[in-house]
Amino acid sequence: MKILVTGGTGYIGSHTVVELQQAGYEVVVVDNLINSEKSVIDSIGKITGIAPDFEEIDLSDPAMTDKLFENHPDIKAVIHFAALKAVGDSVKRPLEYYRNNIFSLVNLLEAMKRYDIKHFVFSSSCTVYGQADELPVKESTPRKDAESPYGNTKKIAEDILENVVRTGSLQCIALRYFNPIGAHPSAVIGELPIGVPDNLVPYITQTAIGIRKKLMVFGNDYSTKDGTPIRDYIHVLDLAQAHVVALKRMLENKQRSPWEIFNLGTGNGFTVLEVINSFEKVSGQKLNYEIVERRAGDIEKVWADTEYANRELGWKAVRDLDEMMRSAWDWELAMKERNK
Ligand code: NAD
Ligand code: WQD
Repeated sequence: MKILVTGGTGYIGSHTVVELQQAGYEVVVVDNLINSEKSVIDSIGKITGIAPDFEEIDLSDPAMTDKLFENHPDIKAVIHFAALKAVGDSVKRPLEYYRNNIFSLVNLLEAMKRYDIKHFVFSSSCTVYGQADELPVKESTPRKDAESPYGNTKKIAEDILENVVRTGSLQCIALRYFNPIGAHPSAVIGELPIGVPDNLVPYITQTAIGIRKKLMVFGNDYSTKDGTPIRDYIHVLDLAQAHVVALKRMLENKQRSPWEIFNLGTGNGFTVLEVINSFEKVSGQKLNYEIVERRAGDIEKVWADTEYANRELGWKAVRDLDEMMRSAWDWELAMKERNK
């Protein structure tokens, strides 16, 4: 069965392609390579033995998106990762984010309607909850006003999808990821941040390997056990596997309703200092870091209530923080080796 994975050369997409292929699906990857590299297709092939089909297409172009489906009339479902995702950048360039993330979604949905494809898995984000009033965050926890244009594209996309599902032409599962980190245990694929990373874990590994001088820890005056913010970090492999489960649920008509939302997290929150400690433990490296001012827009704490996803999907994140950090470090070391 052929599955279209948009953004499949990206971080989460590439890990999901591996899991899909290993579960027996045939995969077509579409990506415009704005934030990833074509070599990822070969890397996927190294792990699974099969390099997936690849189409270099910008999904914000409706004609090219249509052509993609014309070329692959046997696509049965779409997993949609393709998006721009840098929060700070989206504040500076909101129109690019709306054009890219919203137009791409609409183009895909229009083409799917024309080609009568009914199954859609969407990459949403815990960013839609903002600083939630209740913790842990349930799927029913009210969404907050978005703190960034990027976050708003996720809220708007969820609303668009819910509206389309209501027409009866689409079945959708929206997966709200918490903080994905780590890499494939083979160290053949992983996160490839372009430029200076915004996110904590690639910043930690790049600092330890000498690409960055020092990690700035943004604030230690939050109301948490050590004063640094809490997040629900989830191994990218656990996340990837949840996509295969969600896809099967849809294809086997096991959805409770054609519009479903699931939180993908571990249910455990860790502070920034706990993440650093775990890194130092598994890597044997002392990390150079300094506590500085809070980062504007950061929330204090968030972690998922995973009970609903665990029960309904029969899926549970199983990899712990040390395993996440070890795989992130192995990936950084492998990249250094490759770039020698
Ligand atoms: P990524 O940047 O590594 O992957 C996204 C891929 O989409 C890239 O390869 C990029 O080149 C491609 N792309 C972007 N616009 C495109 C377009 N118009 N046409 C074709 N391809 C396009 O990001 P990721 O971390 O793998 O994130 C995947 C999805 O998960 C995104 O939708 C992101 O918003 C969402 N998400 C990510 C996180 C996170 O922390 N990484 C958290 C929550 C949600
Ligand atoms: C984690 C913690 C920082 C970098 C972002 C997006 C969110 C979602 C996930 C897509 C925070 C601290 C970080 C650094 C630090 N993405 N930190 N020094 O902010 O939880 O979420 O990615 O949907 O929308 O906003 O992740 O990795 O940037 O930060 O101290 O150099 O690490 O303050 O507490 P965040 P992050």
